Amino acid sequence: MTLPRRRVVISGASGGIGSAIAKALAVQGHELLLCGRNSSKLNQLKEELEGTGHQLLTADLTTAAGLKTLLAAAQAFDADTLINCLGVNQLQTLSATSAADSERILNTNLLAPINICRTLLPLFQLKPSTIVNVGSILGSIGYAGSTLYCASKAGLHGFTEALRRELADTKISVLYLAPRATDTELNNQEMQQMNQQLGNKTDSPEWVAEQLCQALAQRRQGDLYLGWPESLFVRINALLPRVVDKSLLKQLPIIKRFCQGTTPAPQTAGERHEVS
Ligand SMILES: NC(=O)c1ccc[n+]([C@@H]2O[C@H](COP(=O)([O-])OP(=O)(O)OC[C@H]3O[C@@H](n4cnc5c(N)ncnc54)[C@H](OP(=O)(O)O)[C@@H]3O)[C@@H](O)[C@H]2O)c1
Repeated sequence: MTLPRRRVVISGASGGIGSAIAKALAVQGHELLLCGRNSSKLNQLKEELEGTGHQLLTADLTTAAGLKTLLAAAQAFDADTLINCLGVNQLQTLSATSAADSERILNTNLLAPINICRTLLPLFQLKPSTIVNVGSILGSIGYAGSTLYCASKAGLHGFTEALRRELADTKISVLYLAPRATDTELNNQEMQQMNQQLGNKTDSPEWVAEQLCQALAQRRQGDLYLGWPESLFVRINALLPRVVDKSLLKQLPIIKRFCQGTTPAPQTAGERHEVS
């Protein structure tokens, strides 16, 4: 099954997952409006894409001015699909973060996708359209060292579910895509080392993009959690949070040491703690 040709706005297109999604969609013949702040990365991506008709928008989508230019560009582009893939992350305990960190993370990961959806909705009202918000497994499993990120993604999950139900009587379908750890620049070296020590599995952005393309082709709606056993932990966390509390408690000393920047010695496979 394939998705009929779409005109897709991708926010966060200059990032690891966004650019992999762009490449996978371009191969299928879709035309793309690639958004990000880093124009050289966007230009390079456009050169690498199959097909013609792709366009670029360099804008900070956490600002009113950025949203205004997005609306004008998406209108001229005649967009019918939105993939919100922008995001930021920070590995830190709450007490070591600042109010500015809260603002940056919540503005980028939660308020920006909400505002982008609101801005583009009028364009989508009269035609079959799709909205995808890229969340995270950590939007459904609270994780130490990621309080602000988890708050932003949990908010995005709630927003996306409500929006899907609000638009159920329209031709707009809504999908929440929740990857687990993925190999991109979002995760700094410490986060990557921490995931390795904890035995947390990491996917490639290309695999994540492939899962999204399949979901789009199947006209899938609702929540799509990627990765096993993480997608199972989401269900266990919803039903039996104490079980997950106990399991994550074992990881806490390692997470806290990475938050403090003191890297613990590598563990043997037998010493690793997984969420189970
Ligand atoms: N990597 C993971 O482990 C992982 C796991 C689960 C979910 N996710 C989610 O997947 C999405 C993509 O993440 P990624 O791994 O591809 O991260 P990434 O490589 O760091 O890319 C982040 C993207 O967000 C854009 N962005 C950040 N702030 C922006 C702003 N103010 N205005 C416009 N664009 C902005 C960046 O654009 P510029 O650099 O051009 O500003 C970049 O394109 C995020 O929502 C992330 O939370 C990632």
